[in-house]
Amino acid sequence: MRQTIRPSRRLSGAVVLPGDKSISHRYAMIASLAEGDSKIANYSTGADCHSTLGCIRTLGVDVEEEGTTVTIRGRGLSGWKEPASDLDAGNSGSTIRMMSGLLAAQPFTSRIFGDESLSHRPMDRVMKPLAEMGANIEARDGRYPPLAIHGGTLHAIDYTLPVPSAQVKTCVLFGGLFADGETIVRETIKSRDHTEIALREFGAELIVKQKVITLKGHPQLKGRELTVPSDLSSAAFFLVAALLVPDSRLMIRGVGLNPTRSSLLDFLLSIGAQIRVERIESVGGEPIGDIEARYAPVRGGVIDKELTAALIDEIPVLAVLGAASRDGLVIRDAQELRIKETDRIATVAENFKRMGIEIEVTPDGMKVPGQQKFRAAAFDSFGDHRIAMAFAIASLAADGESTIDNAEAASVSFPEFWNILGEFDAGQSGA
Ligand code: S3P
Repeated sequence: MRQTIRPSRRLSGAVVLPGDKSISHRYAMIASLAEGDSKIANYSTGADCHSTLGCIRTLGVDVEEEGTTVTIRGRGLSGWKEPASDLDAGNSGSTIRMMSGLLAAQPFTSRIFGDESLSHRPMDRVMKPLAEMGANIEARDGRYPPLAIHGGTLHAIDYTLPVPSAQVKTCVLFGGLFADGETIVRETIKSRDHTEIALREFGAELIVKQKVITLKGHPQLKGRELTVPSDLSSAAFFLVAALLVPDSRLMIRGVGLNPTRSSLLDFLLSIGAQIRVERIESVGGEPIGDIEARYAPVRGGVIDKELTAALIDEIPVLAVLGAASRDGLVIRDAQELRIKETDRIATVAENFKRMGIEIEVTPDGMKVPGQQKFRAAAFDSFGDHRIAMAFAIASLAADGESTIDNAEAASVSFPEFWNILGEFDAGQSGA
């Protein structure tokens, strides 16, 4: 699908965005292993989280969907059935990596595969700790999907994460649910902690001391009624839009503000953004609140070390903001970007080139000079949802009409993106 985007004169309005992708995956997987029914409201509408629902259905778990409310009839820790077909993770790294920890502990063999993009993303980062736990997993060329997971008994391990990855941390903790004794995961850079919060909500015993997580095996997980906060990573596109287009003023309600994700807001505030957060409350152990953003010129700055890990999904759209900022943006320590749905350093650079934006690519990031003029261009998402949305936002500040090929990729996390863009910006309606 080719989407046409006109420049915007002003964005305004209030909206509620779909449920958080990371939290939806975790609630669905844990609910499928809990005893009794779980009712999950505001479940992510993204294709990725539906890949997770597809996998747990294939494992014999009843899942009912009514709008964005999902009821999962949990079958207990040993309730999954041997699948009659291969499990399809689609485009979702979270699905394949987190499910691997659970599948490795089952008394059967399963195969899990993904689309073209996922088939080229490394799985050795989960295979290694799972092998230490006693799992037997085969992968294409030793590290790529599809995976054949020969399930069996897992042992508790004490594992230090070599990369800051919440997917790997979750995989090990999920394996640890089935192991005797205590599984310990140590982080050097703290990654998003939705798994720790969700496991506790469902009744697991888990101790977190700074960057060390200790989980007791064989918990009794109980079905729960939970509401997923709206996705801050989806909100990021509109926050940046408000900062790019003069006179904009947006209100986004009920957004997840978990501190392991909300460094985005701190960073934007630190470079001069006008953002206000109000009505903060806790839902299922996760903080949520309303975010108001108003247009303000921003200074730019440096994203490196822990901040890079905390903002990893937002970097494409922040790079766009960087090109319009006063001082530009330097991004370092972002090697992980090269193994996302696309090599996001390369795909950002290619789209920047198409719009005449100067960028210096470095092995672990990029340097984007500020005060650049955005030329209208023919962009490509290269099949990557965050690239499609980042360059839709760039198009709002361009000097004419832009197009984005393969725009349907946005549906992986945010199918409503194009409609909501139209709601915020009257100029886009019917785009
Ligand atoms: C996610 C973790 C991050 C992030 C991804 C979702 C999660 O990946 O990029 O979009 O839900 O745990 P890594 O854990 O590989 O860094």
